[in-house]
Amino acid sequence: MSTTVFVTRELAAPGVAPLFEAGCAVRQHPSADVAPTRAELLAGAAGCDALITLLTDRVDAEVMDCAPHLRIVANYAVGYDNVDLDAARERNIVVTNTPDVLTDATADMTWALLLAAARHVGAGERLVRTGAWAGWSPTQLLGPGFPGKTLGIFGMGKIGAAVARRARGFDMRVVYTNRSANSELESALGAQQVSFDDLLTQSDFIAINAPLNAQSRHRFDAAAFARMKPTAVLVNAGRGPIVDEAALAVALQTGQIAAAGLDVYEREPAIEAGLFECENAVLVPHLGSATVEARAGMAELCCQNVLAVVGGLAPLTPVS
Ligand code: GLV
Ligand code: GLV
Repeated sequence: MSTTVFVTRELAAPGVAPLFEAGCAVRQHPSADVAPTRAELLAGAAGCDALITLLTDRVDAEVMDCAPHLRIVANYAVGYDNVDLDAARERNIVVTNTPDVLTDATADMTWALLLAAARHVGAGERLVRTGAWAGWSPTQLLGPGFPGKTLGIFGMGKIGAAVARRARGFDMRVVYTNRSANSELESALGAQQVSFDDLLTQSDFIAINAPLNAQSRHRFDAAAFARMKPTAVLVNAGRGPIVDEAALAVALQTGQIAAAGLDVYEREPAIEAGLFECENAVLVPHLGSATVEARAGMAELCCQNVLAVVGGLAPLTPVS
């Protein structure tokens, strides 16, 4: 009997070609840009053996119970906070994600936001595009330099480590918080594990590269912004709810911190209204893994995980 797979979006090339080659019956939501409605998600999942889902799909018990033979949820993302892991475990459903293939892309976007927020790329672009630029000025849109400054990384997993490696080229000191110490990185980069309060008070730049969980949710709130340097630049390339977005807008408006760069938001695609008024915020639409190479790797890894599990083999990248 052939394997039925529901893919909740059209994916970037090479898409799900390996599933077709393996003879799977593939159902695919007919859009790359518009997510399936809840009803479409439930109908698509009905009777499937495998699902390839996106971070915009809430994959919970109700979805899983539409498919009594479901063996795997292959999430097309490194984060998997959209999947109910307890419900999957109770039903013996394997959950996989797409680590490694998007590490460099996401670290690059973290750095794009650090540079853009620090050097007023957003405000400068608006000045030029609106025709308001009156010419070069010694005092226009000055930002901080990077050499000798301290970069604090919240979440020293693979992406955080790739962000730290790039900081070497900027001659920065790196401190970090993480559940466990990364001794390899400490010796390779001279990165130092610190307390959360030391991260807030010592860092000139903070990069959030952590997953969303009960410990990280709203970790950056009004109290945290009050501890940060007024010159600090904060970047979030992890998950939106790690930052209290309303409190961040206030901190940016009142000069409690200097600038922010955001790739992720609390209620995507909705964005806290106050942020639109912040000239010192650079806002991009969740593009961390948006390179040709990363998206190809993510699709390939999802297909490999599906084919392994339905073939009775171990998944390549299960989430723990
Ligand atoms: C993107 O946010 C991902 O988790 O892959
Ligand atoms: C600036 O453009 C300079 O030449 O210093």
